[in-house]
Amino acid sequence: MEQILFRHNKPNRCVTFDEYRAEGGFSALAKALKELSPDQVQQAVIDSGLRGRGGAGFPTGKKWSFLARNVPGPRWLICNSDEMEPGTYKDRTLLEANPYLLLEGIALTSYAIGVSHAFIFIRRGYEQAAANLRRGVAECRQAGLVGENILGSGFSCEIDVHVSAGRYICGEETALMNALEGKRANPRSKPPFPAIKGLWGGPTVVNNVESLSNIPAIISNGAEWFKAFGRIPEAAGTKLFCVSGHVSTCACFELPMGISLGEIIEGPCNGMRPDSRFKACLPGGASTPYFTEEHWNVPMDFDAVAKAGSRLGTGGIVVFDQNTCMVAATLNLVRFYARESCGWCTPCREGLPYVVNLLEEIENGRGSEEYIAILRDHINLLKYAFCALALGAMGPVEGLLKHFQDEVREHIAKGKCPFKK
Ligand SMILES: Cc1cc2nc3c(=O)[nH]c(=O)nc-3n(C[C@H](O)[C@H](O)[C@H](O)COP(=O)(O)O)c2cc1C
Repeated sequence: MEQILFRHNKPNRCVTFDEYRAEGGFSALAKALKELSPDQVQQAVIDSGLRGRGGAGFPTGKKWSFLARNVPGPRWLICNSDEMEPGTYKDRTLLEANPYLLLEGIALTSYAIGVSHAFIFIRRGYEQAAANLRRGVAECRQAGLVGENILGSGFSCEIDVHVSAGRYICGEETALMNALEGKRANPRSKPPFPAIKGLWGGPTVVNNVESLSNIPAIISNGAEWFKAFGRIPEAAGTKLFCVSGHVSTCACFELPMGISLGEIIEGPCNGMRPDSRFKACLPGGASTPYFTEEHWNVPMDFDAVAKAGSRLGTGGIVVFDQNTCMVAATLNLVRFYARESCGWCTPCREGLPYVVNLLEEIENGRGSEEYIAILRDHINLLKYAFCALALGAMGPVEGLLKHFQDEVREHIAKGKCPFKK
């Protein structure tokens, strides 16, 4: 299959600046600066149907169009590379193989939305990716692709690489802006949305690494070309699916948007491990409700996955086999979220440890029917938390109660975990 994001990848090493340029890299930027107006770049992205790859799937071009116009002072672009969702490693894979696509995407986006300073907010721990980006920015600066008067066009854009202090909440776009401003990383209330009042009060676009890395190909090849990658009519482009768990081959694959879950597992993942049978998976990262065998043929696209009761999220697929205790798996995930709660709002700060406690009791055979009812209440209650962290934390709990209620009840009836020998 023709690829968009992994097109320049080399085996076991990062592509070099010279290779990327020799293979047509930065020609989309040159083309845009010479032939296209910022509005034309924006329109191409709107027409392409590209939806944000950071989790929520919001249409990228539409998000750009919300940016406040004619306001005094600077406007900003932030590339979100915080990637701390358990089971998600697509941005790291991309940046370790090729930082230039992102840098070109950032320059194009900055041109389209009138930004002269962009930040890449990268997770602490992604040392190799951050080093690639820093080296890439320096190479681009030397070649006149970053900084003042890019390619003699009169357009200028600085790119800064900022290493996060390292908490999951820093990936939430408003908490991220607080972190960049040097403040405590708690989320801000929305509205005002970042497009109106974001970083240092200026209009701001926040986009994910994978979203921005798609922009050069869209500008080079056009919206229709991009759309044609989708497996089903409403799906556009490719998607990075990073797979882990009980499959034979765990890796990050670039596949057509809308490919079915079963095709991913039977195809590039080479099926389940020997002696493993598919039981369930997180289809889009740790905050998405489980899929089971009945979802084998669901197209992995934002709308189709939502219609089937979950979320495409980040495309981080975690596969569980028949020997997995789904209560224990869910407990493990919610423990992560409880630990990562920023503590800013009460429902999340107090609610998640309470949910952990309920799940621990069930897992250890000390639960009751009432616990199931309380867990159900908390799925609703935590929708009222300040940001989407707690909502996401309850995704697996929702899946557990929807698809594995019998397993939960077995823990209660037996007074112990049926998976423990
Ligand atoms: C708790 C939390 C953590 C998040 N972490 C990330 C992250 O690591 N990377 C990311 O791109 N988006 C993350 N998001 C989503 C961002 O808030 C934002 O929607 C996204 O960066 C927008 O980019 P996109 O439109 O290109 O998808 C997170 C959201 C929440 C609620």
